[in-house]
Amino acid sequence: MKLLFVGDIMGSAGREMVRDYLPRLKRKYDPTFIVVNGENAAHGRGITEKICRELFEAGAEAITMGNHTWDNREIFDFIDQEPRLIRPANFPEGTPGKGITYIKHPVGELAVINLQGRAFLPPLECPFATAVQLVEQAKKRTKYIFVDFHAEATSEKQALAWYLDGKISALVGTHTHVQTGDERILPQGTGYLTDVGMTGPRDGILGMEREAVIKKFLTQLPVRFEVATGRTQLNAVLLTLDKATGKTTKLERIRIDDDHPFME
Ligand SMILES: [Fe+2]
Ligand SMILES: [Fe+2]
Repeated sequence: MKLLFVGDIMGSAGREMVRDYLPRLKRKYDPTFIVVNGENAAHGRGITEKICRELFEAGAEAITMGNHTWDNREIFDFIDQEPRLIRPANFPEGTPGKGITYIKHPVGELAVINLQGRAFLPPLECPFATAVQLVEQAKKRTKYIFVDFHAEATSEKQALAWYLDGKISALVGTHTHVQTGDERILPQGTGYLTDVGMTGPRDGILGMEREAVIKKFLTQLPVRFEVATGRTQLNAVLLTLDKATGKTTKLERIRIDDDHPFME
């Protein structure tokens, strides 16, 4: 069982990378499941129904979100009709959408859970308590459980991964937009990577135009950030899950630069 997870897709540059490289990654790795994070897919801010369709057509089977979930208001019109699009599960009760979805495959079902951290981010419900509830629910259906933990603090990401070790297949972080090199398998078999990185402009600052970000730091004045242009990159991770136990046996980080040859 292989699960390919692609990090925060940023604007049209990120979507183009997905369109170009996801089919090639599929041919190369033959993943059983494909999950992508789409919180920045609509010009860096949220997602639209059309973009969801585009990502599904490119091969994504589930889309996770994060703190930018509600930036594009269009999401309120369709999130409740699109079960493959999930937002962090620990938003307050009554929030539109869901934080868990299942991808069906003849060899088994993958539960995908999206959670958001609370360190340096808005005070949502406790991601640890929400995780326990959802993992209990998912366990009744499948042994393959994947968590996208959208969080800023490495400590919070590590803490949730260790807290869930042995109860889920893997926890991979999103939100910081920079891929970390700390992939590992925890003692009870849960795969872990602090952040998968983003998919989009490579020479911006976290994918945004550099000039605006620098101006913000220099002046502290309100600045409108735009998605950067130029060279691009795709960041992802390929997880191999054991058929019998659902545990992770291998994590392989993937980083593709658009100006380097891609070996199929
Ligand atoms: Fe993001
Ligand atoms: Fe984020």
